[in-house]
Amino acid sequence: MPKTILLPLLANGEFHSGQDLANALGVSRTAVWKQLQKLEGLGLAIESVKGRGYRIPGGIELLCESQVRAGLNEQGSALLTELAVAEAVDSTNAEALRKIEQGAGAGVVCTAEQQTAGRGRRGRAWVSPYARNLYLSIVGEFTQGAAALEGLSLAAGVAVARALEKSGVPQVQLKWPNDILLGGAKLGGILLEMVGDAAGSCQVVVGVGVNVAMPAATAAPIEQDWTDVATISSAAGVAAPGRNALLAALLNELLPLVDNFEAGGFALWQEAWQKLDAHAGKPVVLTTGSEQLAGIARGVNERGALQLETTLGVQSVFGGEISLRVSE
Ligand code: BTN
Repeated sequence: MPKTILLPLLANGEFHSGQDLANALGVSRTAVWKQLQKLEGLGLAIESVKGRGYRIPGGIELLCESQVRAGLNEQGSALLTELAVAEAVDSTNAEALRKIEQGAGAGVVCTAEQQTAGRGRRGRAWVSPYARNLYLSIVGEFTQGAAALEGLSLAAGVAVARALEKSGVPQVQLKWPNDILLGGAKLGGILLEMVGDAAGSCQVVVGVGVNVAMPAATAAPIEQDWTDVATISSAAGVAAPGRNALLAALLNELLPLVDNFEAGGFALWQEAWQKLDAHAGKPVVLTTGSEQLAGIARGVNERGALQLETTLGVQSVFGGEISLRVSE
């Protein structure tokens, strides 16, 4: 029995007796109980109350292609060529890269309820529990190689911040090169992967992860402060946006960005990025491998390079495998 057979019944957050679930699915109560255990194994909290049955407190919203499409605007709809919604994949970026190998082009989007080997920056894993957060990867096609991609991941951060703001999650900030923050805690991240000719025709996968309702126990391996949309919305006393609506809002911002970026480059996004910069004017330390460079963060230039004011003057630092933290 696939895990989604039981889930649509429990998704509404209401109590269902074991017998009702068994009857609805045409299986034994033991089979229902085993499925409930599997769901718990996926990190979904199942509440069990004697005499009432089982429920997922607060309910969950499963991804639904038609609901996502219904939330797209005209431009988003026109640019989306395929929306693949998987139950589980290793990584939506890996899935998008496999699709490129099979001939997929611009506008293909891969999403999944769960990633079993979600990829973060600097070789880290991206914690990707089932049906809780958003994981999406968008394929873009470029003709002028890697140079034309400079600053694309920063611009993607601006697009994600705009989508969140339009979905009722304001005050999102960006941390160079491409972390999505709220109140200093990590709300999401962006990972670009490129294939093709580094000097000519190439494809890029823009991978975005947003924490929507991260179970605290699942988040234990995350080595930095993190937050999620549910926590922010509940602190603000507003209803959190549904995952399908939020996914559509992200695609409405990200698809045009990926489509247009090569024409104007990061220069068109520089000002917007600086307005969202979490560290502007703050003392920071950059770490590359074993090397550290301290200075004051002074925004980014038109190529997306961090402007670090050091004792030797302002230095331009490009992304890659560098990490930034506020100095103590
Ligand atoms: C980071 O380390 O901040 C970047 C995280 C990027 C995670 C997203 S989730 C969707 C896509 N698929 C992946 O495997 N990674 C990216």
